[in-house]
Amino acid sequence: MNQTSFTPRVFSGIKPSGGLTLGNYLGAIKRFVGMQGQMETIYCVVDMHAITVWQDPKELANMTREVAAGYLAAGLDPSQSILFNQSQVAAHAELAWIFNCVARVGWMNRMTQFKDKAGSNAEKVSLGLYAYPALMAADILIYQATHVPVGEDQKQHVELTRDIAAKFNHDFKTDFFPLTEPVIEGPAMRIMNLRDGTKKMSKSGESDMERINMTDDADKIAKKFKKAKTDPEPLPETVEGLKDRPEARNLVEIYAALNDMTPEAVIAEYPGAGWGTFKPALADLAVAKLAPISEEMARFMADPAEIDRILGEGAEKARAIANPILRDTYDIVGLLRSDATR
Ligand code: AMP
Ligand code: TRP
Repeated sequence: MNQTSFTPRVFSGIKPSGGLTLGNYLGAIKRFVGMQGQMETIYCVVDMHAITVWQDPKELANMTREVAAGYLAAGLDPSQSILFNQSQVAAHAELAWIFNCVARVGWMNRMTQFKDKAGSNAEKVSLGLYAYPALMAADILIYQATHVPVGEDQKQHVELTRDIAAKFNHDFKTDFFPLTEPVIEGPAMRIMNLRDGTKKMSKSGESDMERINMTDDADKIAKKFKKAKTDPEPLPETVEGLKDRPEARNLVEIYAALNDMTPEAVIAEYPGAGWGTFKPALADLAVAKLAPISEEMARFMADPAEIDRILGEGAEKARAIANPILRDTYDIVGLLRSDATR
């Protein structure tokens, strides 16, 4: 098998470690929907990644449903995409072990997300947090996925996935795993915190005012944009004028991504506008785009059994792809199977 013979296949995932944010929507889910129907698409709620930091067991299942509800409400369709939660497909964890034995400690030590998350506490964090990128590589490669849409913060992990695939192929003299492409494009690859334009908008930031949650109502969205930090200057006349203005650039990029435009087109529409004009326009746009999704999410969340059914069906389809790839991997590695037909 050479690198051109892999069927184009998309895989991506989101952790159920808190409520979905506008960063997840614009950097990931909206783009997942855009790729649906163009090639085979597999989207996962990566619950085993979530537990690399403490999760309350009672909350975890609910958060898993909430991410699934976000997928469904944003337009992922279980008849067009495979939707499931990671822990229902054991092959992810099994392949991750093999990749733990392929990846080098030196590679893991270079992962900036681990360094950021562990900070000065690196001795006390879980071993899982350190090994996390090998599980992510397994998520992707257990489907021999060729394309992975992610936000900018995940680029290094997809590059590590390629390194793992390349080393596996080299060590076992095979072309079994594809060198997966990260798909990082559009204006929303890194949505920033509304209170500090140098930090990423994340689920876990300390203040709720720094992020837009996919479940926020219209009033909250308007209030958060109104209070968003900016510099005192109005919008520039051209996009070049956004250089070194992280907060201004972030709001323009959010507008662009929500409305499927380029930042250039946003500036052309609001050249030199003051914040008193631009912020309410942005809030109106965000409400118009997000309110229908959050209403739909609430509808799905009112019927958890239906979400569980959809995830269960997706997991079955996922296992049908993953299990034969795992078996072939075991054969390549030389792990004995008593019944070669299983
Ligand atoms: P996580 O919430 O860390 O599981 O992230 C799930 C997906 O959302 C990944 O593809 C991230 O890159 C993307 N994502 C999360 N936060 C942001 C953000 N602030 N801007 C752009 N993409 C993001
Ligand atoms: N690590 C990703 C994040 O924190 C989530 C993730 C896990 C993922 N496995 C994946 C993303 C596989 C893409 C493909 O955002």
